[in-house]
Amino acid sequence: METPEGAATNRRAEATQDARSHAVELPSDTEPTLRLLEQYSGIDPKDVPGLVRQVVMVEQQAQALTVFPYGCIKSFWFLNLVPTLDDPRYQAVAERLRTPRSTETFLDVGCCLGPVVRLLASQGVPDDRLHGTDLHAGFLDLGHELFGDRGRSRATYVAGDILDESDARLDVLRGKIDIIYALAFFHLFEREGQLEAAKRMVGFLRPENPRVMIFGQNQGPKIEGWEKYVLDPGRWTSLWEEVGRATGTRWRTEMEVESTDKWNNVRFGVYRIV
Ligand SMILES: C[S@@+](CC[C@H](N)C(=O)[O-])C[C@H]1O[C@@H](n2cnc3c(N)ncnc32)[C@H](O)[C@@H]1O
Repeated sequence: METPEGAATNRRAEATQDARSHAVELPSDTEPTLRLLEQYSGIDPKDVPGLVRQVVMVEQQAQALTVFPYGCIKSFWFLNLVPTLDDPRYQAVAERLRTPRSTETFLDVGCCLGPVVRLLASQGVPDDRLHGTDLHAGFLDLGHELFGDRGRSRATYVAGDILDESDARLDVLRGKIDIIYALAFFHLFEREGQLEAAKRMVGFLRPENPRVMIFGQNQGPKIEGWEKYVLDPGRWTSLWEEVGRATGTRWRTEMEVESTDKWNNVRFGVYRIV
Protein backbone atom coordinates (compact mmCIF):
# COMPACT_ATOMS: atom_id res chain seq x y z
CA MET A 1 0.00 0.00 0.00
CA GLU A 2 1.20 3.52 -0.80
CA THR A 3 2.39 5.46 2.27
CA PRO A 4 1.48 9.18 2.68
CA GLU A 5 5.19 10.05 2.14
CA GLY A 6 5.26 7.92 -1.03
CA ALA A 7 2.09 9.59 -2.33
CA ALA A 8 3.59 13.03 -1.68
CA THR A 9 6.80 12.05 -3.50
CA ASN A 10 4.76 10.84 -6.48
CA ARG A 11 2.71 14.04 -6.57
CA ARG A 12 5.90 16.07 -6.43
CA ALA A 13 7.42 14.07 -9.30
CA GLU A 14 4.24 14.57 -11.35
CA ALA A 15 4.22 18.31 -10.63
CA THR A 16 7.88 18.58 -11.70
CA GLN A 17 7.20 16.63 -14.88
CA ASP A 18 4.20 18.80 -15.61
CA ALA A 19 6.14 22.06 -15.14
CA ARG A 20 8.96 20.82 -17.41
CA SER A 21 6.55 19.96 -20.16
CA HIS A 22 5.00 23.45 -20.21
CA ALA A 23 6.87 26.33 -21.77
CA VAL A 24 6.55 29.54 -19.76
CA GLU A 25 4.81 32.23 -21.76
CA LEU A 26 4.85 35.36 -19.67
CA PRO A 27 1.94 37.80 -19.96
CA SER A 28 2.86 41.29 -21.24
CA ASP A 29 2.12 42.92 -17.87
CA THR A 30 5.13 41.09 -16.39
CA GLU A 31 7.39 43.47 -18.38
CA PRO A 32 8.23 45.78 -15.39
CA THR A 33 9.22 42.76 -13.30
CA LEU A 34 11.45 41.43 -16.07
CA ARG A 35 13.21 44.82 -16.12
CA LEU A 36 13.54 44.62 -12.31
CA LEU A 37 15.13 41.18 -12.64
CA GLU A 38 17.66 42.62 -15.07
CA GLN A 39 18.38 45.85 -13.22
CA TYR A 40 18.02 44.87 -9.55
CA SER A 41 19.15 41.26 -9.77
CA GLY A 42 21.54 41.56 -12.71
CA ILE A 43 19.98 38.61 -14.49
CA ASP A 44 20.58 38.22 -18.22
CA PRO A 45 17.16 38.68 -19.97
CA LYS A 46 17.59 35.40 -21.81
CA ASP A 47 17.88 33.53 -18.49
CA VAL A 48 14.65 35.00 -17.08
CA PRO A 49 12.13 32.51 -18.58
CA GLY A 50 14.17 29.57 -17.26
CA LEU A 51 14.40 31.16 -13.83
CA VAL A 52 10.67 31.86 -13.73
CA ARG A 53 9.95 28.30 -14.83
CA GLN A 54 12.12 27.08 -11.97
CA VAL A 55 10.15 29.18 -9.45
CA VAL A 56 6.81 27.99 -10.77
CA MET A 57 8.08 24.43 -10.62
CA VAL A 58 9.25 24.73 -7.01
CA GLU A 59 5.90 26.25 -6.05
CA GLN A 60 4.04 23.43 -7.80
CA GLN A 61 6.09 20.93 -5.83
CA ALA A 62 5.21 22.75 -2.61
CA GLN A 63 1.58 22.78 -3.67
CA ALA A 64 1.66 19.05 -4.20
CA LEU A 65 2.77 18.71 -0.60
CA THR A 66 0.73 21.29 1.25
CA VAL A 67 -1.92 22.91 -0.99
CA PHE A 68 -1.62 26.69 -1.07
CA PRO A 69 -5.08 28.04 -1.85
CA TYR A 70 -3.82 31.11 -3.77
CA GLY A 71 -3.52 31.45 -7.52
CA CYS A 72 -0.96 34.28 -7.45
CA ILE A 73 1.87 32.03 -8.66
CA LYS A 74 0.01 29.97 -11.24
CA SER A 75 -1.50 33.06 -12.88
CA PHE A 76 1.87 34.92 -12.86
CA TRP A 77 0.19 37.61 -10.72
CA PHE A 78 3.35 37.43 -8.57
CA LEU A 79 5.24 38.96 -11.51
CA ASN A 80 2.73 41.72 -12.20
CA LEU A 81 3.92 45.10 -10.93
CA VAL A 82 1.60 47.10 -13.20
CA PRO A 83 -1.21 47.58 -10.61
CA THR A 84 1.40 48.87 -8.15
CA LEU A 85 3.16 51.17 -10.60
CA ASP A 86 -0.19 52.56 -11.81
CA ASP A 87 -1.32 53.43 -8.28
CA PRO A 88 -0.81 57.15 -7.48
CA ARG A 89 -0.56 56.31 -3.78
CA TYR A 90 2.35 53.98 -4.55
CA GLN A 91 4.12 56.70 -6.50
CA ALA A 92 3.63 59.18 -3.64
CA VAL A 93 4.85 56.63 -1.09
CA ALA A 94 7.99 55.82 -3.14
CA GLU A 95 8.74 59.55 -3.30
CA ARG A 96 8.15 59.96 0.44
CA LEU A 97 10.41 57.00 1.34
CA ARG A 98 13.18 58.37 -0.91
CA THR A 99 13.12 61.81 0.73
CA PRO A 100 16.62 62.63 2.02
CA ARG A 101 16.89 62.01 5.77
CA SER A 102 13.62 60.04 5.81
CA THR A 103 13.65 57.32 8.46
CA GLU A 104 10.22 55.96 7.53
CA THR A 105 9.71 52.24 7.08
CA PHE A 106 7.53 50.25 4.67
CA LEU A 107 5.85 46.85 5.08
CA ASP A 108 4.21 44.79 2.32
CA VAL A 109 1.62 42.50 3.95
CA GLY A 110 0.95 39.26 2.04
CA CYS A 111 4.01 40.12 -0.05
CA CYS A 112 4.20 36.68 -1.71
CA LEU A 113 7.67 36.65 -3.38
CA GLY A 114 8.29 40.30 -2.42
CA PRO A 115 8.56 42.03 -5.82
CA VAL A 116 7.28 45.36 -4.44
CA VAL A 117 10.00 45.46 -1.77
CA ARG A 118 12.60 44.89 -4.52
CA LEU A 119 10.92 47.50 -6.72
CA LEU A 120 11.26 50.15 -3.98
CA ALA A 121 14.88 49.16 -3.41
CA SER A 122 15.56 49.50 -7.14
CA GLN A 123 13.90 52.94 -7.07
CA GLY A 124 16.34 54.22 -4.47
CA VAL A 125 14.70 53.46 -1.12
CA PRO A 126 17.33 52.20 1.37
CA ASP A 127 16.51 48.52 1.80
CA ASP A 128 17.08 48.47 5.56
CA ARG A 129 13.75 50.35 5.85
CA LEU A 130 11.84 47.77 3.80
CA HIS A 131 9.89 44.79 5.14
CA GLY A 132 7.74 42.02 3.71
CA THR A 133 5.58 39.47 5.47
CA ASP A 134 3.66 36.44 4.26
CA LEU A 135 1.95 33.40 5.72
CA HIS A 136 4.18 31.08 3.71
CA ALA A 137 7.90 31.11 4.51
CA GLY A 138 8.29 29.18 1.23
CA PHE A 139 7.16 32.24 -0.77
CA LEU A 140 9.75 34.42 0.99
CA ASP A 141 12.47 31.85 0.18
CA LEU A 142 11.34 31.70 -3.43
CA GLY A 143 11.61 35.49 -3.56
CA HIS A 144 15.29 35.23 -2.63
CA GLU A 145 15.73 32.52 -5.27
CA LEU A 146 14.03 34.60 -7.95
CA PHE A 147 15.68 37.94 -7.17
CA GLY A 148 19.05 36.45 -6.19
CA ASP A 149 19.48 38.74 -3.17
CA ARG A 150 19.90 36.34 -0.25
CA GLY A 151 22.64 37.74 2.00
CA ARG A 152 22.87 40.88 -0.18
CA SER A 153 19.62 42.66 0.74
CA ARG A 154 19.11 44.25 4.17
CA ALA A 155 15.31 44.11 3.81
CA THR A 156 13.47 42.15 6.50
CA TYR A 157 11.17 39.29 5.51
CA VAL A 158 9.04 37.67 8.22
CA ALA A 159 6.79 34.65 7.87
CA GLY A 160 3.65 34.71 10.01
CA ASP A 161 -0.13 34.52 10.13
CA ILE A 162 -1.55 38.01 10.45
CA LEU A 163 -4.93 36.57 11.47
CA ASP A 164 -3.41 34.78 14.44
CA GLU A 165 -2.99 37.26 17.28
CA SER A 166 -0.74 34.81 19.12
CA ASP A 167 1.71 34.35 16.21
CA ALA A 168 4.75 35.81 17.97
CA ARG A 169 6.91 35.73 14.82
CA LEU A 170 5.23 38.97 13.76
CA ASP A 171 6.04 40.76 17.03
CA VAL A 172 9.29 42.05 15.46
CA LEU A 173 7.10 44.41 13.40
CA ARG A 174 5.18 45.82 16.35
CA GLY A 175 5.31 49.62 16.47
CA LYS A 176 8.07 49.73 13.81
CA ILE A 177 6.25 50.53 10.54
CA ASP A 178 5.12 53.85 9.00
CA ILE A 179 3.54 52.69 5.74
CA ILE A 180 1.77 49.39 5.08
CA TYR A 181 0.90 48.09 1.61
CA ALA A 182 -1.77 45.41 1.13
CA LEU A 183 -2.23 44.45 -2.52
CA ALA A 184 -4.78 41.72 -3.27
CA PHE A 185 -4.81 40.92 0.43
CA PHE A 186 -7.91 42.13 2.31
CA HIS A 187 -10.13 40.55 -0.35
CA LEU A 188 -8.91 37.09 0.71
CA PHE A 189 -11.09 37.33 3.81
CA GLU A 190 -14.66 38.12 4.82
CA ARG A 191 -15.23 41.09 7.15
CA GLU A 192 -14.22 39.22 10.33
CA GLY A 193 -10.83 38.29 8.85
CA GLN A 194 -10.38 41.79 7.45
CA LEU A 195 -11.03 43.19 10.91
CA GLU A 196 -8.43 40.89 12.51
CA ALA A 197 -5.85 41.73 9.82
CA ALA A 198 -6.52 45.47 10.16
CA LYS A 199 -6.17 45.38 13.95
CA ARG A 200 -2.83 43.57 13.68
CA MET A 201 -1.67 46.10 11.09
CA VAL A 202 -2.51 48.97 13.46
CA GLY A 203 -0.27 47.24 16.03
CA PHE A 204 2.60 47.26 13.49
CA LEU A 205 2.34 51.02 12.96
CA ARG A 206 4.63 53.45 14.74
CA PRO A 207 2.44 55.05 17.43
CA GLU A 208 4.29 58.38 17.48
CA ASN A 209 4.01 59.07 13.72
CA PRO A 210 0.82 61.01 12.83
CA ARG A 211 1.46 60.32 9.10
CA VAL A 212 1.22 56.53 9.23
CA MET A 213 -0.89 55.02 6.46
CA ILE A 214 -2.16 51.76 4.99
CA PHE A 215 -2.92 51.51 1.29
CA GLY A 216 -3.56 48.90 -1.36
CA GLN A 217 -6.02 47.35 -3.76
CA ASN A 218 -8.73 44.70 -3.82
CA GLN A 219 -10.47 43.11 -6.72
CA GLY A 220 -13.12 40.51 -7.36
CA PRO A 221 -15.44 39.25 -10.08
CA LYS A 222 -18.99 40.63 -10.13
CA ILE A 223 -20.67 37.49 -8.90
CA GLU A 224 -23.06 37.06 -6.01
CA GLY A 225 -21.34 37.04 -2.66
CA TRP A 226 -18.21 38.96 -3.66
CA GLU A 227 -19.30 42.11 -1.84
CA LYS A 228 -18.33 40.23 1.34
CA TYR A 229 -14.71 40.24 0.15
CA VAL A 230 -14.36 43.48 -1.84
CA LEU A 231 -15.88 46.00 0.56
CA ASP A 232 -17.52 49.11 -0.87
CA PRO A 233 -16.60 52.59 0.45
CA GLY A 234 -19.35 52.58 3.12
CA ARG A 235 -18.45 49.14 4.49
CA TRP A 236 -14.74 50.03 4.34
CA THR A 237 -15.31 53.15 6.47
CA SER A 238 -17.41 51.20 8.95
CA LEU A 239 -14.73 48.49 9.19
CA TRP A 240 -12.13 51.12 10.12
CA GLU A 241 -14.48 52.70 12.66
CA GLU A 242 -14.64 49.30 14.32
CA VAL A 243 -10.85 48.92 14.11
CA GLY A 244 -10.57 52.33 15.79
CA ARG A 245 -12.91 51.34 18.62
CA ALA A 246 -11.02 48.08 19.18
CA THR A 247 -7.55 49.67 19.17
CA GLY A 248 -8.20 53.10 20.70
CA THR A 249 -7.21 54.83 17.45
CA ARG A 250 -9.04 56.86 14.74
CA TRP A 251 -8.84 56.46 10.96
CA ARG A 252 -9.89 58.35 7.84
CA THR A 253 -10.56 56.18 4.81
CA GLU A 254 -10.41 56.81 1.09
CA MET A 255 -11.56 54.40 -1.60
CA GLU A 256 -11.89 54.61 -5.37
CA VAL A 257 -14.01 51.99 -7.12
CA GLU A 258 -13.44 51.15 -10.76
CA SER A 259 -15.91 48.65 -12.14
CA THR A 260 -16.05 46.87 -15.45
CA ASP A 261 -18.87 44.57 -16.59
CA LYS A 262 -17.23 41.65 -14.88
CA TRP A 263 -14.90 43.04 -12.20
CA ASN A 264 -14.82 45.38 -9.23
CA ASN A 265 -11.43 46.93 -8.57
CA VAL A 266 -10.83 49.21 -5.64
CA ARG A 267 -7.89 51.25 -4.46
CA PHE A 268 -7.85 52.44 -0.87
CA GLY A 269 -5.92 54.53 1.60
CA VAL A 270 -6.31 54.62 5.39
CA TYR A 271 -4.84 57.50 7.41
CA ARG A 272 -4.51 58.15 11.13
CA ILE A 273 -6.64 60.95 12.56
CA VAL A 274 -4.79 62.76 15.32
C1 LIG B 1 -3.48 36.92 -3.67
S1 LIG B 1 -1.86 36.82 -3.01
C2 LIG B 1 -1.28 38.49 -3.28
C3 LIG B 1 0.21 38.57 -3.22
C4 LIG B 1 0.81 39.97 -3.49
N1 LIG B 1 0.37 40.95 -2.51
C5 LIG B 1 0.47 40.42 -4.88
O1 LIG B 1 -0.50 41.15 -5.04
O2 LIG B 1 1.16 39.97 -5.80
C6 LIG B 1 -2.20 36.81 -1.26
C7 LIG B 1 -0.95 36.62 -0.39
O3 LIG B 1 -1.35 36.72 0.98
C8 LIG B 1 -0.71 35.70 1.73
N2 LIG B 1 -1.56 35.39 2.90
C9 LIG B 1 -2.74 34.74 2.91
N3 LIG B 1 -3.23 34.62 4.16
C10 LIG B 1 -2.34 35.24 4.96
C11 LIG B 1 -2.27 35.43 6.37
N4 LIG B 1 -3.24 34.98 7.17
N5 LIG B 1 -1.20 36.10 6.88
C12 LIG B 1 -0.22 36.55 6.05
N6 LIG B 1 -0.22 36.38 4.71
C13 LIG B 1 -1.27 35.72 4.17
C14 LIG B 1 -0.62 34.54 0.76
O4 LIG B 1 0.35 33.60 1.14
C15 LIG B 1 -0.31 35.25 -0.56
O5 LIG B 1 1.06 35.41 -0.77
